[in-house]
Amino acid sequence: MAILVAGGAGYIGSHTVKLLYKKGYDVIVYDNLSKGYREFVKWGKFVQGDIADSIKLKEVFNSYKIDAVMHFCAFIEVGESVVEPEKYYKNNLVNTINLLNTMKEMNVKKFIFSSTAAIFGEPEHIPIKEDDRKNPINPYGKSKLFVEQILEDYEKAYNFNSICFRYFNAAGADPEGEIGEAHNPESHLIPLVFDAAIGKREYVKIYGTDYPTKDGTCIRDYIHVNDLAEAHILGLEYLLNQNKSEKFNLGSGEGYSVKEIIDTVKKVTGKDFKVIETERRAGDPPVLIANSSKAKGILGWERKFSLNEIISSAWEWHKKKDSVNLN
Ligand SMILES: NC(=O)c1ccc[n+]([C@@H]2O[C@H](COP(=O)([O-])OP(=O)(O)OC[C@H]3O[C@@H](n4cnc5c(N)ncnc54)[C@H](O)[C@@H]3O)[C@@H](O)[C@H]2O)c1
Repeated sequence: MAILVAGGAGYIGSHTVKLLYKKGYDVIVYDNLSKGYREFVKWGKFVQGDIADSIKLKEVFNSYKIDAVMHFCAFIEVGESVVEPEKYYKNNLVNTINLLNTMKEMNVKKFIFSSTAAIFGEPEHIPIKEDDRKNPINPYGKSKLFVEQILEDYEKAYNFNSICFRYFNAAGADPEGEIGEAHNPESHLIPLVFDAAIGKREYVKIYGTDYPTKDGTCIRDYIHVNDLAEAHILGLEYLLNQNKSEKFNLGSGEGYSVKEIIDTVKKVTGKDFKVIETERRAGDPPVLIANSSKAKGILGWERKFSLNEIISSAWEWHKKKDSVNLN
């Protein structure tokens, strides 16, 4: 069984590739390395290419008998998407449509898509269920919601079967320390706090301390990257066995405030560092927590990693990251 993993040299993609490989799947990673790393592709085969390049994609589909595609490629900076929407609609939407159309031409119709909690915008209810109102407030979230909607049409018209996984905050690293998070630029809270802990940054900033939450800071749902990888395996098995499409919210179901994350990092690392409290950022909802009972009910998925395990695994990786030659 051969799986094409587009974006498999990135953070979540590479962890999923490792698990696919361990489970015995043939894995072909397809990535342009715009944001990912050749060093993260330690399992399976690697083809350097862009999902905008239909000719190269077709070569890959012709060389390997691909059974399904997992699609992790995207630009992921919410703030940047507001100032450069064209870049986001081009890569996250137009290039995704190109990938889907190439799949259609090559008659591969099983697709797993990396969606996001950002499609919900300001949620109506907490925890957030799959069918809750979708009102993305930035081009990044909109680009993902558009793809979800396109997939519904492709199912009706072309018999595409897809799974959309809306990840909440992906965090943590491979417990064996072989790969981890290395976004450039980094905008995710936990690695930013680590940078303050190791003195790479002078301080860590908290944006807003007057939210209607227990300590005034934003609450998010952190889910270990290996738990996400596990969901992809279960989703793939579901797709290969049923002619159906589904959408799932993937989170731990627990919320932690920015202050709680900073305190846990201080405990796990044993380091103290400067924290600066500043104004709210536009577009940050106070609380985002997933209801993942659908993924449990249909896929039998359950998260395994606690917040402490997330932060400890991420810390082990973060300490060694600078000594790994990432290109
Ligand atoms: N990290 C999170 O917390 C989070 C949360 C919700 C959703 N997501 C989604 O999950 C997916 C993976 O996120 P990540 O954190 O691993 O990001 P990442 O930047 O580490 O990985 C994305 C990978 O896709 C590749 N890529 C991008 N555009 C490409 C193109 N046109 N052709 C070929 N390769 C291309 C990059 O080189 C990179 O290796 C993204 O779609 C993102 O929107 C991430």
